[in-house]
Amino acid sequence: MSNQECDLGLIGLGTMGRNFVLNMADHGTAVAVYNRTAEKTREFLAQEVGSRPIRAGYALPDFVGLLQPPRAIILLVAAGDPVDAVIKELLPLMAAGDLIIDGGNSHFTDTNRRAKILASKGLNFIGMGISGGEQGARYGPSLMPGGPREAYERVAPIMEAAAAKVNGEPCVTYLGPGSSGHYVKMVHNGIEYGVIELLAESYDLLKRGLGLKPEELAEVYDRWNSSELNSFLLEITARIFRRADERTGQPLVNVILDKARQKGTGMWTSWDAMDLQVPTPTIDVAVVLRGLSGHKEQRLAAARVLKGPQKAIALNQEQFLARLQNALYAAIITTYAQGLALLKKASETYAYDLNLEAVVRIWRGGCIIRASLLEEIRQAYVATPDLANLLLDPHLGRAFMDRQKDLREVVKAAIDLGLPAAGLAVSLAYFDAYRSAQLPANLIQAQRDFFGAHTYERLDLPGTFHTAWEEE
Ligand code: 6PG
Repeated sequence: MSNQECDLGLIGLGTMGRNFVLNMADHGTAVAVYNRTAEKTREFLAQEVGSRPIRAGYALPDFVGLLQPPRAIILLVAAGDPVDAVIKELLPLMAAGDLIIDGGNSHFTDTNRRAKILASKGLNFIGMGISGGEQGARYGPSLMPGGPREAYERVAPIMEAAAAKVNGEPCVTYLGPGSSGHYVKMVHNGIEYGVIELLAESYDLLKRGLGLKPEELAEVYDRWNSSELNSFLLEITARIFRRADERTGQPLVNVILDKARQKGTGMWTSWDAMDLQVPTPTIDVAVVLRGLSGHKEQRLAAARVLKGPQKAIALNQEQFLARLQNALYAAIITTYAQGLALLKKASETYAYDLNLEAVVRIWRGGCIIRASLLEEIRQAYVATPDLANLLLDPHLGRAFMDRQKDLREVVKAAIDLGLPAAGLAVSLAYFDAYRSAQLPANLIQAQRDFFGAHTYERLDLPGTFHTAWEEE
């Protein structure tokens, strides 16, 4: 079996792995596959492969023997320990110059650790974020590779062929060294969390605030999807509202439990943003509210005793819909602004040397956060490659300001209705804080100095100062 005819190997025939193999094979890449459970490999070969150039190894040495040296192997196994376990098994079978690509949602610090170990053995390691779920993997994902550039160049034609295309351009590019690819994917997911939260809040306002039914909601989101709000997440939101439950005939969304799970990438984004002191409040709130949604039992008990505003407020449906549309767009701009500001800081801190225009370019197709807005954002980076914050781009800043009144009105309505719209509110607060030449942090400095002699700086003199606050 060791006839070394395959261009690339892939380990892990889960949903993403199977679909990505078929995608690469359809673009002329000869792929060798391996899965820990041989049964899954047999099933895949029998049911899905057909006449495509795909071969299977049922033991790792056989699988490795199918690959042309220098070998390139993509791992699509669950993030965490399974990645280390596979690498450990592969190591004795690899030779200097071979390449391992981790295509999972690995934490970037794990990627750094693995890259170091593999480099010490003369092996190349690339962390490559893959976005787009099952459909993306099969018909064109957005790919975010980071690691040694020359190693990536070897597989670039395969990745470019498999990636989604926008105006003929593939949604993949070399992003930078080390863990840059996984970092960019993590922030992609952070933005995904933020936008999902904003859409969920808009749904809540329309459902509990305006009393719209799923079929009406589908129409609203469809209409919005034909506007500047056009995006993959909006499109699927409209489709979700149209779907009926096969068991009950009810709109499916109405029978789904209101507890959102998470695998961690949104939380990692917030953690690192806090570490780097880059504010990402919309993403933080999205993580927090997924957590709160999980406390269903407590919420049920609390709903019986804790009452919100008693007086119903009447909303003008047409006016509120128009406001909410603008409010969403403005809040979504700030979500991308937060994520990209984090990428800028991370790029400086971790020496990723990211080109944010390129990052945004490969997010325009294939991935979960693809949206028409990304083209506007790309233009902002074309005009100012080192833009500190998207809100400082004249066009995007104006787009937010033109809609701020509507965002304020929507947040006020949510407060009056007693509906939680923390993502919308905090997106607005982010804008208000960011544009404040003077924040109340002078008081915080005074308090810290008062109780802990932590010192403060002054507006009128250089240096640090301490006041004996108790001695008046
Ligand atoms: C993508 C997604 C994907 C992620 C899911 C679920 O880009 O295709 O980001 O990588 O796994 O969205 O994430 P959570 O379980 O954390 O919501």
